[in-house]
Amino acid sequence: MPKTALDARLRAAAEYVRQEAYFADIGTDHAYLPVFLLQEGKIRRAVCADIAAGPLSRARKTVETAGLADRVLLLQTDGLQGLEALGLTDIALCGMGGELIAAILDAAPFVRDPRIRLILQPMTRAAHLRRYLAANGFAVERESLCRAAGRLYACLCAHYTGEPYFLTPAEAELGYYEVHEGRSDPLFPAYLAARIQTVRRRVIGQHAGGGDARENETLLKEMEALYDRQGAL
Ligand SMILES: C[S@@+](CC[C@H](N)C(=O)[O-])C[C@H]1O[C@@H](n2cnc3c(N)ncnc32)[C@H](O)[C@@H]1O
Repeated sequence: MPKTALDARLRAAAEYVRQEAYFADIGTDHAYLPVFLLQEGKIRRAVCADIAAGPLSRARKTVETAGLADRVLLLQTDGLQGLEALGLTDIALCGMGGELIAAILDAAPFVRDPRIRLILQPMTRAAHLRRYLAANGFAVERESLCRAAGRLYACLCAHYTGEPYFLTPAEAELGYYEVHEGRSDPLFPAYLAARIQTVRRRVIGQHAGGGDARENETLLKEMEALYDRQGAL
């Protein structure tokens, strides 16, 4: 079978998976990520989990076509339920909303283990996910940006430390790592500009609807100041 090709989002996630990992892909759908990692020889075994039967049957098809059925456990389950005792080392939650990713992590106390690497790729509400991680003592070791289907996404590599920390509004919106260490990322200026546009629209909407826009105005100022400093960086 030809090797599975990944889009930029899943390639960013694959980068963070450790060699010899016992890997789980939650919300696996087509199972492209675990199958790619097995074909690359990066991991030995994988769990492909999804809440829905349709995606899981797509996953089964990809796995069987690749001749990898003996190295994959396919599970229909909600989030990480039932995966506690498997000895997982690296867990990916990609292609879901940031709120759902946070809720899945919150419902699975076993991920509060510094040995487990979490690879998180939110499609929306990344700020919510970053705030959840900060408030619950998950450190973000790295973040990277990628462009897929014309949109920019962040991919986070995190693990539990048990030490909560504070994020400024811009750090939550853009990622602490991106703001302080990732600015050499060639996609950072475009990511920053796109986030500024989103928050600007939010502020305009709040003004039009008579809502309280102060929080978003503060965020907008912080991001615009960062954007203005870009040239000097
Ligand atoms: C858009 S697909 C993402 C597929 C793949 N991970 C990717 O990034 O390309 C999202 C998948 O998450 C699954 N999903 C949604 N909620 C879930 C939950 N609570 N637990 C497990 N899977 C879930 C959906 O059934 C769907 O297959």
